[in-house]
Amino acid sequence: MKVGFIGLGNMGSGMAANLIEAGHEVTVYNRTPRKAQKLVEEGARHAAQVADACRGDAVITMLADDSAVESVVFGDAGVVGNLRQGGIHISSSTISVALSEKMTAAHAANGQRFVSAPVFGRPDAAAAGRLFVAVAGRPDAVDDCMPLLEAFGQKTFRFGDNPPDANLVKLSGNFLISSVIEALGEAMALVGKAGLDQHQYIDFLTSTLFNAPVYKTYGGLIADKKFEPAGFAAPLGFKDNRLVLAAAETLRVPLPLACLIYNRFLTLLAHGGESLDWSAFSQLAAEDAGQASRSTWRDVGLPSRER
Ligand SMILES: NC(=O)c1ccc[n+]([C@@H]2O[C@H](COP(=O)([O-])OP(=O)(O)OC[C@H]3O[C@@H](n4cnc5c(N)ncnc54)[C@H](OP(=O)(O)O)[C@@H]3O)[C@@H](O)[C@H]2O)c1
Repeated sequence: MKVGFIGLGNMGSGMAANLIEAGHEVTVYNRTPRKAQKLVEEGARHAAQVADACRGDAVITMLADDSAVESVVFGDAGVVGNLRQGGIHISSSTISVALSEKMTAAHAANGQRFVSAPVFGRPDAAAAGRLFVAVAGRPDAVDDCMPLLEAFGQKTFRFGDNPPDANLVKLSGNFLISSVIEALGEAMALVGKAGLDQHQYIDFLTSTLFNAPVYKTYGGLIADKKFEPAGFAAPLGFKDNRLVLAAAETLRVPLPLACLIYNRFLTLLAHGGESLDWSAFSQLAAEDAGQASRSTWRDVGLPSRER
């Protein structure tokens, strides 16, 4: 297919590379143009402006947050203004349910098709074509874009014809992951303070009842205290926490755990954690236990609260 790809960050660069690898004709755009260079060497065309990435059958956006998506989609010379009639906009960023509703309406009003296809998996999975995709949209549109989704995902799950439903699935999934990070942080503070080996503890958990990717990935990062470079940066994780709380407020669904995690993010960011992986907030449980010394904070790149 002829496809445009907008947003070549940690996730988008790997996803676009897999589209090229699968034989699609890919045109890439990124706000910071130098990030397109490697993909151009691999066979992509370079779009100097958003509009130039919207000339094909479909365009995929993989941008940081709502405001980035708003500016690329609705700005002068944006996606809505340039995609052809019947063309498909596939939105893979993790964005609000409200913005997904707005894009669904705007594309329908312009005779275009909108598909929401947020993804599960970190940058290594994106580069390996091993993402999980939650997709929702008109069945004909979802059918038409399956060859694209299959290029960067190992499996695609359909959630009906209302695009914002896929965004709610994604946000609820990240809420669950953040709950696992908090729970692992607390459990590992407990065994760590008692002097147990945290790696051995994670090996035990993930070889028995907790044999799932989320415990393996985050248990490993927390045991290693490896929060830099960030695979998923703390400000983006905080964004998802706020978005799930906004969706829950609209639906009148209390999420007490998400409120606790909201404050964990605030503490992390207030103490210099902007550049760390979102899982760094796991260390706050250890600090609450009087366990994280100044040097430990330095090891994970966090300035001590006392400094
Ligand atoms: N990282 C993960 O593990 C992961 C997993 C699943 C989903 N996600 C979601 O996927 C999306 C992308 O994540 P990422 O980790 O790839 O983020 P990232 O590395 O920070 O990349 C963000 C991308 O958005 C662009 N961007 C930001 N603000 C913009 C603006 N105002 N106008 C135009 N472009 C703008 C950036 O362009 P520049 O290069 O010019 O800055 C970059 O291409 C996010 O919604 C995130 O929540 C991430």
